[in-house]
Amino acid sequence: MSPVLQPHRIELDDVVLRPFEWTDEPAVAVALRDRDVLRWAAGTAVIRTPADRRAKRWLETRVDGWSRGNAVFAIADAASDYVLGTVSIRDVNRVPDQALVAYWVSPAARGRGLAARALDAAARWAFAKDGLALHRLSLDHALVNEGSCRVATRAGFQLEGTMRDYFVEPTGQRHDSHLHARLATDQLVPAGS
Ligand SMILES: CC(C)(COP(=O)(O)OP(=O)(O)OC[C@H]1O[C@@H](n2cnc3c(N)ncnc32)[C@H](O)[C@@H]1OP(=O)(O)O)[C@@H](O)C(=O)NCCC(=O)NCCS
Repeated sequence: MSPVLQPHRIELDDVVLRPFEWTDEPAVAVALRDRDVLRWAAGTAVIRTPADRRAKRWLETRVDGWSRGNAVFAIADAASDYVLGTVSIRDVNRVPDQALVAYWVSPAARGRGLAARALDAAARWAFAKDGLALHRLSLDHALVNEGSCRVATRAGFQLEGTMRDYFVEPTGQRHDSHLHARLATDQLVPAGS
């Protein structure tokens, strides 16, 4: 059974990581109009939903994700609370002491290293004894998604190997994918270094 997680906030300087709310639907809708978010991070169920209902469909499994073992953070502007992206830690303890991570950033908020900073902060909380007390976090990205590879590496997720034909687009196109992981015992790499 999935663990029930206590919703959590993480304050960074200019952004806050916080649970999603239904009022975030317009901001999520903007992100889900981006080709790369749809291609790499939205999920098949959302892609197959008509465009005008995708944000609602996406939020359905995120707003209450915490009660089903998924720590789903919005990356929100600290001043306006507007959603700029997301980082999620999902399937917490499905494999004991482990979880999977995923992220996207809205096109207008890209280019300032937000995903790596949010991923690093979320990972630190996930490893903390008063956080999720996990030991290993892993992620995958299609090899052609070089920006995601940079995000993972910058946030301290070491490259562990290549999974052949791992990612399948709704079109059926298959992509080799990198597996990256960060352990609680890894030497912490400050984001931005
Ligand atoms: C991947 C993503 C989250 C990065 O957003 P971001 O945090 O704003 O990233 P930035 O634009 O600040 O770039 C981060 C790094 O990636 C590099 N990068 C960004 N886009 C790149 C590209 N197309 N090719 C190569 N490198 C790229 C940047 O140069 C930067 O490198 P640095 O750390 O050496 O300075 C964002 O592009 C996105 O949401 N993409 C679509 C969804 C997605 O791919 N999610 C991940 C699924 S595995």
